[in-house]
Amino acid sequence: MKLFLDTANIQEIRDGARLGVIKGVTTNPSLASAEGIGSAESYKAAVREISDIVDGPISVEVVSLDAQGMVEEGREIAGWIPNPWVKIPSTMDGFEAISILSSEGIKVNQTLCFSVNQALLGAQAGSTAVSPFIGRLDDIGLEGIDLISDIVSIYKQYDIKTKVLAASIRHTLHCTLAAQAGADIATVPYKTLVQMAHHPLTDSGVARFKADWEKTANS
Ligand code: E4P
Repeated sequence: MKLFLDTANIQEIRDGARLGVIKGVTTNPSLASAEGIGSAESYKAAVREISDIVDGPISVEVVSLDAQGMVEEGREIAGWIPNPWVKIPSTMDGFEAISILSSEGIKVNQTLCFSVNQALLGAQAGSTAVSPFIGRLDDIGLEGIDLISDIVSIYKQYDIKTKVLAASIRHTLHCTLAAQAGADIATVPYKTLVQMAHHPLTDSGVARFKADWEKTANS
C-alpha cells in the first residue's frame, strides 16, 4: 500500500517528503482553506509548490457542483502540474464529469465515496482512483473499513483497474486496517504519519543503546 499525505500545508509536506515514504499528496478545499488558500490562483501556486516537493500524483479538488463547471475546472487543473489527479465528487454531475475528463486522458480521483455502488459507477466512468472516506463513515456509527474491503474484493472479482485510495484516515489503526483490507493507497494526515513512525519501545531502546555505548566508551 502506497502512502500519500493528506494536507495542503507546505511545511508538513516538506517534512513528510524527507522520510522518502510519501508517493503523492491529496488536498481538498477544506485543507486549502485551513492554509489561507481562498482563490484558484493561490490554490494553483500552492499545488505547484507541492508538486515540486513530491514526485507523485497531487490531487486537487474542483468546487463546481455542475458537470460542465467540474469539467472546465478539471481541464484547467490538469494544466497546472505534471501529475495532477482531479478530485471529482461522487455525484450524478460528478460521474458525468469523470467520464468526460477520463475520456480526455485526465486522471481523476473520485472523492467523497461512501458506498460500493458509487465506487462501481466511478470505475465505469473511468476514475483513476476512488476515495472511500473511512473516518466520516465511522463518525456516523458505521464501520468505514468495511467499505474498503468490499470495494477491493469487488474490483478484484471484475478485474477493475481503478485504485482504491483509503481517505478520511484519522489514526494509525485506520492505516493498518486499510493495508490489511488491500487498499492500493492510504492518504494520511501528517500527524498520523508521525504516529506511524513512533513506538515507545523504539524510543526507550534507542536511549538504552546510547546510554550503554557511552558507559563503555567513557570507561
Ligand atoms: C482526501 O482525499 C480527503 O479529502 C480527506 O482524507 C478527508 O478527510 P476528513 O474526513 O478527515 O476531512
